[in-house]
Amino acid sequence: MAKLLWLGLFCLCLTLSHGKGSVYDGFKIYELAKRSRSTGIDFVVSELVKNESYYELYNDDGTSAHIMVHPEAQPEFIQLLDGHTLSYKIVNQDVGSTLRREFDMNRMLRNRYPFQGRLGTERYYSHDEINQYIQQLAQQHPSRVFLKTVGKSFEGRWMKMIRITNGDGRPNKNVILMDGGIHAREWISPAAVIYAIGELVDNYEAHADLLLDYDWVILPVVNPDGYEYTQLSADTRLWRKTRQPRSTECIGTDPNRNFGFHWNEAGSSSNPCSETYAGPKAFSEPEAVVLRDVIHSLADRGQMYLTVHSYGNYVLHPWGYIDEVPDTWEDLDEVGRAGADAIKAATGTIYRVGCSTTLLGAAAGASDDYAFNAGFPISFTMELPRGGNNNFDPPASDIDRLVKETWVGIVAMGRKVIEKYPLK
Ligand SMILES: *[C@@H]1O[C@H](CO)[C@@H](O)[C@H](O)[C@H]1NC(C)=O
Ligand SMILES: [Zn+2]
Repeated sequence: MAKLLWLGLFCLCLTLSHGKGSVYDGFKIYELAKRSRSTGIDFVVSELVKNESYYELYNDDGTSAHIMVHPEAQPEFIQLLDGHTLSYKIVNQDVGSTLRREFDMNRMLRNRYPFQGRLGTERYYSHDEINQYIQQLAQQHPSRVFLKTVGKSFEGRWMKMIRITNGDGRPNKNVILMDGGIHAREWISPAAVIYAIGELVDNYEAHADLLLDYDWVILPVVNPDGYEYTQLSADTRLWRKTRQPRSTECIGTDPNRNFGFHWNEAGSSSNPCSETYAGPKAFSEPEAVVLRDVIHSLADRGQMYLTVHSYGNYVLHPWGYIDEVPDTWEDLDEVGRAGADAIKAATGTIYRVGCSTTLLGAAAGASDDYAFNAGFPISFTMELPRGGNNNFDPPASDIDRLVKETWVGIVAMGRKVIEKYPLK
């Protein structure tokens, strides 16, 4: 009892001296180097990550794996690594304190750069600000830019989609469909998509070729409830899923496992508490239904579907439900390489291009397989580079660099698609 009391007082002092405590206090992120033929690491990692309340495995960018570990599991984790003589590096000593620092920084930036109609790259923006921005663009450019409300999220947020044209009024052009923000914590994704919108609308002269025979249709935030939730506090910053409750303990479904094509097969979970929970049934999430209907409404004209995520530096193409590629994989590869090559030439950043399952692991029920199967000949998941202390949190000072680099890749892929699939 005395011991417990002491512990209680100790915790109280810690809490007081550090300000508000956080659920991530004491969590660490370990980086495990990937050796060339590393069966050891794969085995260790695959066993551990089954215990999701203590371990979280992050995307693997090909060179190293990152695992976030609960303080209580750290001694056991280190023992296990030592037992397999695996070397590791701690890349974040205290996830909680880094998230709190970033939260304060983001609040400061919001005050310094209030929303004034235009979205720059000074900070990250809320779903509401993004909606207002695209609405204003449509009002300012009534002959070129069209806004459509395509649905409502579980919590009732309006989902708005923008269609950008060159204003010549020709109907039935080919379409490039792009989206962002499927996963809540991947803030750089909506930022990159918003930058693309700005370039296509405001820097139209420089990209007239992209809009001659093609319209660009863009849904900047597919998971607005999750995105807003990540902005609430340091504790919620790393939320990934939607926000619809699915069991007494756990909330949310992975919207990128919720699409009805080989739903709930490899790389997704039936456990409502898992980060890759596929949902109780395909299209259980209203946000996935919205995107599904957009995909079908454009499938006869859609030539490229590009969904922007982070992280890992990949241009991933189908299939994501099985370790196989479609017959037309060479077309996918050609377009993806155009993007990767352009980015490498511009900034030196290396992207890897290839089959989703092979490069990153199976993810059945994702939107890219769905759009490809629905008729888009080119369908990609683009994983932008990691950043920040927790991989999903590039500091605001990195936004400008990252979104400009991403745009270089998007333009190159767009040009290649336009060349390969001319308007009939
Ligand atoms: C998960 O890890 C924790 C910490 O090491 C351990 O106490 C717990 O028993 C593990 N749970 C399972 C189901 O393995
Ligand atoms: Zn993602």
